[in-house]
Amino acid sequence: MRKFALALAGAAALTVGAAQAADEPSLPKVTWPNDGVFGTFDRASLQRGFQIYKEVCSNCHALQHLHYRDLGPGGPGGGIGFTDEEVKALAEQAQVTDGPNDQGEMFQRPGRPYDPIARPFPNEQAARAANNGALPPDLSLITKAREGGARYVFALLQGYTDPPPDMKMGTGMNYNLYFPGHQIAMPQPLSDGQVTFSDGTPNTLTQEAYDIAAFLTWAAEPTLEVRHRMGTKVFLFLLVLTGLFYVVKRKVWAEVH
Ligand code: HEC
Repeated sequence: MRKFALALAGAAALTVGAAQAADEPSLPKVTWPNDGVFGTFDRASLQRGFQIYKEVCSNCHALQHLHYRDLGPGGPGGGIGFTDEEVKALAEQAQVTDGPNDQGEMFQRPGRPYDPIARPFPNEQAARAANNGALPPDLSLITKAREGGARYVFALLQGYTDPPPDMKMGTGMNYNLYFPGHQIAMPQPLSDGQVTFSDGTPNTLTQEAYDIAAFLTWAAEPTLEVRHRMGTKVFLFLLVLTGLFYVVKRKVWAEVH
């Protein structure tokens, strides 16, 4: 009896879960060149994505697993196409706390390529205080941490609309079609024309959302292309090996009837 009740409760929970999931629209069908087993990154798109991170998202979100040098040729997977000089210049734009010096004091200095990418807040409390009590999550692994990955990020950034008339919104909260529960503390960060791309690509909201989602996919797995190449090699190797085994098998069993 108890088992039966448990099973019933489980089924009920599943139905509720399904109903909630159905509440968010399904994610737009969009693909990136790095999708699929042979996919490779579009470096120009990644660089535009980094520009968006730097100019917009980095005001609230950290990228704690990345260092400036990761963006250059020495980075894992060869970086996102910046030269060593560009990486150095990027790092120098940041002010980093270092020390202590001979007087025992901490001091500020321009960033260097080996520094982690500068974070916007010194601690969680400061981050929450500036964001209506909500914590802007670190974005280094966000495409792995959310169901739908890059497609979710792409949709979320374009999912801001007016709330339905019957919805009671909390103070300072924003309505978003794709955020679970629809109330998100993050104000709409991107819009048409938000960022002027240095390569002249049209700066529509869709393009911006596409490029930052690509960049965050790279940030979560900079060596994705290495994995794809290795997978292809292993597959070819197994294919050849299967052929060889087949020939050997025919030879060995040729005399047996
Ligand atoms: C003004 C500060 C601010 C800016 C700028 C900002 N965010 Fe956020 N972001 C937040 C906060 C706060 C949250 C937490 C929201 C919540 O839990 O309600 C958040 C949450 C998120 C999430 C997680 C949503 C989830 O499913 O939990 C993603 C992804 C995200 N932001 C991406 C971005 C990207 C990409 C940019 C730059 C284009 C950006 N944010 C710019 C404040 C910001």
